[in-house]
Amino acid sequence: MATQTVKENRERTRSDDGTSPADRQALVEGLNHDLAGEYQSMLTYLHFASTLTGPFRKELRDFFRAEVTDEMNHAQFLADKIAALGEEPTTRPREVPSAHEPRAMLEAALVLEKQAIADHNERIEQAEAFGDIGLKVDLENQVADETRHKEEIERFLAGWH
Ligand SMILES: [Fe+2]
Ligand SMILES: [Fe+2]
Repeated sequence: MATQTVKENRERTRSDDGTSPADRQALVEGLNHDLAGEYQSMLTYLHFASTLTGPFRKELRDFFRAEVTDEMNHAQFLADKIAALGEEPTTRPREVPSAHEPRAMLEAALVLEKQAIADHNERIEQAEAFGDIGLKVDLENQVADETRHKEEIERFLAGWH
């Protein structure tokens, strides 16, 4: 009975603030999809920093380690937002890609960054549909971070034969 009342109150709140439950549901699912991607990126960079070998180890390790921190901050932001929406943030990363050579690691990382940009762009549209402009702006900043990551990786890869 008490549970039912809480649920009814929640339904009322949703309609009071003008947001549709369908938009909210889609947004939370999308944010959890992105969170799984941030955990995947974080683990990937951490793993690559450890297993990397060769003459570029120092430079690439420094780069990968800096990425771990950025991706962790992205993950924290998304988990905070999902929790603030009253839902459960996922703890499951997508699978870490397998790569053993420095170049293959950079190529794998580039795929992750492009995916993150595409995912967050989709989320920006959902945040807008949901009427959360603050979230839209925060996601835009996150897209700016991922774009910088992507461009830096492209710079590493340019002319690497
Ligand atoms: Fe990220
Ligand atoms: Fe990134």
